[in-house]
Amino acid sequence: MDKERALNVLNAKMMRECTCSLRAQATQAVPGEGSASAEIIFIGEAPGAKEDAEGRPFVGAAGKFLEEMLKDIHLKREDIYITNIVKYRPPNNRDPLPEEIASCQEWLMEQIKIIQPKIIVTLGRHALTHFISDKKISEAHGQAFRKTFPDIGTLVFFALYHPAAALYNGSMRETLMRDFRKIPKVLEKVKNIV
Ligand code: URA
Repeated sequence: MDKERALNVLNAKMMRECTCSLRAQATQAVPGEGSASAEIIFIGEAPGAKEDAEGRPFVGAAGKFLEEMLKDIHLKREDIYITNIVKYRPPNNRDPLPEEIASCQEWLMEQIKIIQPKIIVTLGRHALTHFISDKKISEAHGQAFRKTFPDIGTLVFFALYHPAAALYNGSMRETLMRDFRKIPKVLEKVKNIV
């Protein structure tokens, strides 16, 4: 089965079978979107109101900002894959609880296994600490980390501030934009090593 079909099958299964308790209050699942053969997966925290209404990740103000930064490095949404740690909107956009993260984990890991990206860009604290629990976003942003997991193997994670947090914060916005411009170099480096 090709990657696109495998991802569609997985996401359809997730929508039918996910046991996450967030599902009860959400309008619909937000599995993720983009290229099944992407070299980069961007992972945010959780869908917000607009994402919940549309069933698509990063379609609000943070998504617009993300698209601007992608354009700056000559990428489009269709070139990458975008998803979240949890696949349903938490009520009032509260932080996802550990048990909600745990029940969405298998779907995220399967998405990564199918796509086999060269790098994973984590957006914000939750996405970073999901994979690399001992790092602080304030220190780790703009840096790449290599880590091995039993189910997805060894991958490079590149930490960024969350676009929603940086959107209205001048200095964090500058930092995020500067860090973002490092992505092509990180990708090239990883491709030359592998
Ligand atoms: N913030 C996120 O973390 N994910 C989205 O999909 C939208 C906003």
